[in-house]
Amino acid sequence: MKKRKVLLMYATMTKNTEKVAVWFRETFEYYGWDVTFLRISAKTDWADMQDELYFDDYDLVCLGSPIVGGSALQAVLKAFSFGGGGALEKEVQSNLDEKKEDSSAVPVMPKGARWRRGKAPCPGMPNHENVRPLGIVFTTYGGGFYGSVECMATLEQLKLYLVTHDIDVIGKFSCAGRETGPAGYPVGVKPKADYVPGHKNDGPDADIDDAVLYTLGDGTQVPGSYFFHYDCDSKPGQREEAKAKAFISDVVEDYFMTYNGVPNPPLSEILSIS
Ligand SMILES: Cc1cc2nc3c(=O)[nH]c(=O)nc-3n(C[C@H](O)[C@H](O)[C@H](O)COP(=O)(O)O)c2cc1C
Repeated sequence: MKKRKVLLMYATMTKNTEKVAVWFRETFEYYGWDVTFLRISAKTDWADMQDELYFDDYDLVCLGSPIVGGSALQAVLKAFSFGGGGALEKEVQSNLDEKKEDSSAVPVMPKGARWRRGKAPCPGMPNHENVRPLGIVFTTYGGGFYGSVECMATLEQLKLYLVTHDIDVIGKFSCAGRETGPAGYPVGVKPKADYVPGHKNDGPDADIDDAVLYTLGDGTQVPGSYFFHYDCDSKPGQREEAKAKAFISDVVEDYFMTYNGVPNPPLSEILSIS
């Protein structure tokens, strides 16, 4: 059998998402896959690596990002969105603000990578002649207040970025990642009453009860959590590593290790969302 190829792209600020990406890479390598591992950042020089970017050349494409303010990182947006957060959005808005009669703007594709060898008939239009690799999207996030509902929009956003480049997304993975924001306290430590981004945040504790204690089977006592993900401070850790590796094993075995070498069709999903 020819070696399978995966393009594994991720963005990261504090390296939580990078840990997951590395666990994914190790698992693909265990199965003998060729992994192209690519960090997306504001400084990524797309032109320099164009030969490695064509989705046409891969069996699977993975796209991951941490969550900032409910959304994927700006660098991901700039690379994949048709004008979101960029020149097109600004132009349309300024036309509207200035009450020009024509409030539309010509779609300008973001400068940077080309994801497909064949050109679409026009910017943004699907090209149904493209080969369709399968896709996976993933995120690490705090989810300190409501849990997994806080990551669903970003997973869908990442999925849309792949779908609009003719990828069939069959897997979603999310896990908690140590947070540096208002929910970023070790388990049992009282959160602060006020949180101002970029400040020291050493003001008074929140007016809230002390955490109750829970007794484990071996008698150890542990404090309850003020936030949704228990002990988010230590994540992603061993348990998330096991989940990440099991997730990729399922994708590889169930979709690609078929009796005749033809990948299974994208009719199902493999989900690991916590
Ligand atoms: C500025 C900032 C904003 C964040 N906003 C959110 C958010 O809206 N929702 C959420 O669940 N987590 C949020 N987080 C937590 C991060 O998504 C989480 O720590 C993630 O694991 C960071 O990944 P990274 O280490 O790969 O950068 C935020 C973190 C930072 C630093």
